[in-house]
Amino acid sequence: MTVNNLRAAAIADAMCDIREIDATGIDRNSIELIGKRLLELAKNRDLFPWSDFPSLASNDGSTLYLLSQDEDHRFALYIQSVADATEAPPHDHLTWACIAGIEGEEINRRYDLEGAGEPKISEEVCVEEGVAIGFLPDDVHSIHVQGGALNFHCYGNDLLKLPARNYWNAKLGVWLKKKVRFPIIDARV
Ligand SMILES: [Fe+2]
Repeated sequence: MTVNNLRAAAIADAMCDIREIDATGIDRNSIELIGKRLLELAKNRDLFPWSDFPSLASNDGSTLYLLSQDEDHRFALYIQSVADATEAPPHDHLTWACIAGIEGEEINRRYDLEGAGEPKISEEVCVEEGVAIGFLPDDVHSIHVQGGALNFHCYGNDLLKLPARNYWNAKLGVWLKKKVRFPIIDARV
């Protein structure tokens, strides 16, 4: 089998398990199980080499590759490839989300919401090899990468099909609604 076939089979297995976990209902426990399943997938290090998922300078140094998604746009799995540095301000996802480390470090900050005011940091987790983090639809996090990172990002729904998500704009001191519009490279085989 070629690397492409092995990768497709490993991804299909993982997504099959993740659909089953999702079907039991989404709560803190099930998103932790989804994170663990993604870490298992990440152990196939030779199937997800940097060379196949390069970060493109044209995408602000952070590039998202689509690995799998159902026909109804549920269960979207991506690889995020960051050459050096990237930041995402506090935001929610409107669906469950799991991030699992493959290589490098992605700092995730969780926030407590204070009404419509500035969210307060409640926890900081370094997502790296062997570490995953999960979020319920209303959970808020921010992302901070320095020195490059390759990670799985998995969502209950296709990011491009989600309604506008809520982002904290620190400059204006307000929450703004924004659709995901960044380019995503279709890397499905
Ligand atoms: Fe996010």
